[in-house]
Amino acid sequence: MDMSQFAHEQVVIRQDERSGLTAIIALHSTRLGPAAGGCRRWRYAALDDALTDALRLSAGMTYKNALAGLPFGGGKSVILADAGTRPTEAQLAVFADWLNELDGRYVTAEDVGMGVAEMRTMARRSRYVSGLGEDGIGGDPSPKTAYGVFLGLKTAVQYRLGVEHLHGIRVAVQGLGNVGMSLCHWLARAGAELYVTDIDAGRVREAVERFGATGILPDALLDTPVEVFAPCALGGVIDDAVASTISAQVIAGAANNQLTDPGCGDTLAARGIVYAPDFVINAGGVVSVAHEYLAQQDHFTGVVDYSSERWVGERIDAISHRLLDILQEAEARGVSTETIAVERAQKIVDAGADHAAAAA
Ligand code: NAI
Repeated sequence: MDMSQFAHEQVVIRQDERSGLTAIIALHSTRLGPAAGGCRRWRYAALDDALTDALRLSAGMTYKNALAGLPFGGGKSVILADAGTRPTEAQLAVFADWLNELDGRYVTAEDVGMGVAEMRTMARRSRYVSGLGEDGIGGDPSPKTAYGVFLGLKTAVQYRLGVEHLHGIRVAVQGLGNVGMSLCHWLARAGAELYVTDIDAGRVREAVERFGATGILPDALLDTPVEVFAPCALGGVIDDAVASTISAQVIAGAANNQLTDPGCGDTLAARGIVYAPDFVINAGGVVSVAHEYLAQQDHFTGVVDYSSERWVGERIDAISHRLLDILQEAEARGVSTETIAVERAQKIVDAGADHAAAAA
């Protein structure tokens, strides 16, 4: 694993023998504020795979938080899990202690395999946890993520297909978890024709019943003729082969790190496929989590009304315009949307760092 490619500030790999916890906490950047990003609990084949995931996901969080205008840097944590297990109280306690040792430089929240219940358990021991849903704000970020993805998807469809609505537009949704199922809700309401898959057949059945979707076997989804592909499972779904052959005209989904490498973005652009960069359109959840965390910590009291959801709503609505700007600049310059989005995020991070240096 080449750890230099993203230039992380700090990467912690820890093991606690007594509770059986092994975790990685990757702090990519704290230039704009504490590194914020969820905690993923997943079954990895090897520690190296988990490390790669943590490094890539945390760098993505830096870009996501910067573009969303949040006063947070980027981080991510990964817990190595055995299939079919839940984290024990003891493991969550140890992880909370590790958060405390970082002294607020990293703030965690939900991600795949970690829900509100786990966050609440950890929050009893550490204040560096968000996504708790207490006092009527925040909580599970997934519905907010899904709504932002829906707005981004609509913008991308409008840009590529020139239609203002999703009526009759065929969308393939991969992954019907917290975000994917909620995205299906918005898409169905908008009249889209849904083709859905999940490795959990029960979830496919649910989407078929609730949304009149057509269930597809996981391996067949990419061969299904659709206008839009919405990856909402795990990352790495667009590799060279997929980028060169996929027939969808728009790719817009929630999964982090959809492209296996930036070159795939170039291939998609060359083929006229509009790719909505994941970290641009899936920011709704972290906006909610950031809002909740700032409210808890009592930051900026008097400047922002944290009792109101308006702060969150305005930032999620802004996803449409932000994406449109990126699509237009990418087309004008003949480069990929991923390149433009990373460039813009990096500029924000650099400007924030200069600002901090000038103020010091
Ligand atoms: P989840 O764990 O609730 O759902 C993931 C779903 O994908 C599960 O139903 C799982 O069975 C399915 N799945 C896994 N591998 C699959 C495969 N090969 N083919 C088909 N289905 C497969 O996770 P959640 O929260 O819905 O997140 C989905 C994606 O969105 C993840 O990549 C996550 O990092 C990303 N994301 C989630 C956010 C949130 O607010 N929950 C925020 C930003 C990004």
